[in-house]
Amino acid sequence: MRFISDQAGIMDRYLREQENWSMHLLNTRQFILDAFTGRNIETVAVFGTGWLLDLPIEALAGKFKTVLLVDVHHPPQVRKKVEPYPNVQLFESDLTGGGMNFCWKLSKAQVKSPENDPFEEFMPVHPELPVIADAFISLNILNQLDILLVDFLKRKNFRLNESGIRNFRGKIQQFHLDWITEKPGCLVTDIAEIVAEPGRGSSEKSLLHADLPTGKRNMEWIWDFDLSGFYHPDKETRLTVRAIEW
Ligand SMILES: C[S@@+](CC[C@H](N)C(=O)[O-])C[C@H]1O[C@@H](n2cnc3c(N)ncnc32)[C@H](O)[C@@H]1O
Repeated sequence: MRFISDQAGIMDRYLREQENWSMHLLNTRQFILDAFTGRNIETVAVFGTGWLLDLPIEALAGKFKTVLLVDVHHPPQVRKKVEPYPNVQLFESDLTGGGMNFCWKLSKAQVKSPENDPFEEFMPVHPELPVIADAFISLNILNQLDILLVDFLKRKNFRLNESGIRNFRGKIQQFHLDWITEKPGCLVTDIAEIVAEPGRGSSEKSLLHADLPTGKRNMEWIWDFDLSGFYHPDKETRLTVRAIEW
């Protein structure tokens, strides 16, 4: 389903845009470092850890008794990187609560353009984690959860009507937000994409399909995501990022 090549694509883009990404990565790490002050948290689960670009792993390993890193795939370099920290555990799981399996089955269906909304049947279920977390950190993953699945179905020529897609995106994002807000936590996520064509102005698209929690600490910044014109050919892509702790 190209999850691994998408992850490799993140590293390629980071290497191209390193300087442009530095403020975003610094802001994310600092927001996480400042989280959970004065709260009795021993075990924290972090969702969407990828390459750990935006996670202060050494500080977290020193601060908490157990740190669980969850992603659909942990690259070998990350496995190596966390070896010195015996209290850091890695776990691979589908954080949509079954969306991958559901979309895989849809892609194999005979009927590629169903009359009814096929996503009505999707009922996400919390993946079982190997530890009981006292707190959750959602790390630049919220909209990746729906985007990667919808893109997969489109590549497989599965015909989707716009309202069905919107409902599916909303269901996936709401499931994630409901889950992580069951406990103390923080979330860092891009909420809008701003695409600028030099000399021709810019357009903005929301990436949110569910309501974010209000939280007790909030921050917002712009991430210079792709200024080399690879993501949208010959255009500059920036993302508005929101960080929330509750
Ligand atoms: C934009 S990246 C976040 C950046 C990441 N923290 C880093 O430093 O590389 C999103 C991460 O979410 C993971 N991901 C996307 N969909 C997922 C899913 N359904 N279940 C688990 N992980 C998923 C990807 O593998 C990727 O590592």
